[in-house]
Order: sequence, then C-alpha cells, then structure tokens
Amino acid sequence: MPKSLISISDFTKEEMLHVLEVAQEFEKKKSQTFLHDKVIACLFFEPSTRTRLSFETASNRLGARVIGFSDAANTSVSKGETLKDTIKMVSNYADLIVMRHPLEGAARYASEVASVPVINAGDGANQHPTQTMLDLYTIKQTQGTLENLNVDMVGDLKYGRTVHSLLQALSFFSPSFTLTAPEELKMPEEYKDFLKHKKIAYKETKDLSEGLNDADILYMTRVQRERFTDPIEYEKVKNCYRLSADMLGGCKKNMRILHPLPRITEIALDVDDTPYACYFKQAENGMYVRMAIISYLLGYR
Ligand code: CP
Repeated sequence: MPKSLISISDFTKEEMLHVLEVAQEFEKKKSQTFLHDKVIACLFFEPSTRTRLSFETASNRLGARVIGFSDAANTSVSKGETLKDTIKMVSNYADLIVMRHPLEGAARYASEVASVPVINAGDGANQHPTQTMLDLYTIKQTQGTLENLNVDMVGDLKYGRTVHSLLQALSFFSPSFTLTAPEELKMPEEYKDFLKHKKIAYKETKDLSEGLNDADILYMTRVQRERFTDPIEYEKVKNCYRLSADMLGGCKKNMRILHPLPRITEIALDVDDTPYACYFKQAENGMYVRMAIISYLLGYR
C-alpha cells in the first residue's frame, strides 16, 4: 500500500520536521516544476476554500495537472456510486488523491482501496493533518521553535478537527495547553486521555481571559455549525467567544493568533491590524506545506 497521510499520527516526528524543512525551501522558491508528468486528483465532497485552492495551487506550482470536483452533486455519487468505486476509478487516472469528506473514517477507507497515496483534507470532526502541518510551520516560523510553548486552544474543541490533529502533533514538543471552551464544546475525553498518557500539562476553562496572557499561541476556532444535529444547540453556543483588539493589552510580545479559517464572529476585524494576527500568513503557508507533503508522498523530497 503506498504511503498516505490520513491522520497526523501517520507521520513520525522526524517526518514532520523533514516536511517543515522542505516547505521552507518552497517558500523561498515558489515554483519548482519537477512533477510535470503527474496528475493530482482533488476530490472535495464537502465545501472548502483554502484547502482545495492551496492544494490546487501547490500542484500547479510543482508542474502537476489537477483533476477533480468541488461538489459531489455533479458526479456519479449523485447516482449512487459508492466511495469505493469512485476511489478505485480515480486511482487509475491520478498519481495522488486529495480528499475531503464529511464522514469520519472516509479518508482511511479511501487509502485502503486506492492504489495511489491519499491525503486526508479533512474527514468530518476527525482529522485535518495537512492543516496541522501548516499550523506547525507557522508556529515554528513565528516562535523560532516548536518546543515548550503555551498553546491556548479556544472555541469548538469538540467538533474542530484541526485542534484534535494539532494537539497530537504538538505532543512531541513538550507543550502545555489551555483548553478554552463552553461545556457543550469541550475537548473530547479521548484527547484528554492522550494528554494524560503523555504526561502533558493542560487546564480547562470557559473563560477566554484566563489563558490569554500566558499564551505563546492563541489558536482560535469557529463553532462548527455543520456538525450540529440540533440547530437550537448551535444557536446556544455560536457566539460563545469574541476576541477583540482591546483584550490583547496584557499578552506576551511573541504571542500570535492562529485560526484555521473561515472565521465568523470569534475574531473581531480590529484584531487583524494588531501585530498578533497571523491567520492570513498561516493560510498562505498552507501552499508551501502542501507542496512539501505532495513531494514527500510521491517520493521526490
Ligand atoms: N482551514 C480550512 O480547512 O479551510 P477550508 O474549509 O476553507 O478549506
């Protein structure tokens, strides 16, 4: 079976650091067309702006051609074709598959039936490993290290797949966590058990101001409306946090605010003009990191 990236735990610490180094090279030299004979399939069964466009741009900058879809309603999935048949068929067309799917576990299943590497571009509330790699890249770029950082994760820690992957990846680097969420959106027990097992310090709070002044990284997240089965439950928590510029007076100078985006109301627009805001640069970094991941899985770097 070819090497795929489905969960962040598919990469060792050494592989993560290697990919981050290669991404740095791509940031310095943005177009290197050594994949000119490759075809990359981007299959998005769920909406996306950054992940899809940065994967497509990464593929183009590497010289590869891109096939795929951004809306499964325009494919034979709408006629009842199974995921298995779709993946087996696309495996015969493309050298690598990038897939986003609403069902947790769909990406792992795709990697088991595909004859080419599969990259998980997000599967339900489960994992988003390439987002994690670009988060790590941005953290290292802004802090100069990944070691011994205080990371405050804020918002929807229950359904937010990016925080689940990031927590696991940072566990290699002796972090301490503040987990800031309302009762309904707390970090699932399995991830807290993981932290306990790894002897990584964490505290939980509902109060956004509690972790703010100690944080090196403030990782804000959106409440994931699409994961709620009951719209009333979403209404109760949708505006649980709103970070604004006037709240940042006591923050460490090196503190940076990350957000996987899209944001809704959790970061006020006035934060964009502060030196702490880093989410647009973070999204740009996704392109370099995805170039590095594609190159690595295809055996080029
Ligand atoms: N961060 C992220 O996954 O954004 P998109 O949903 O726009 O791809």
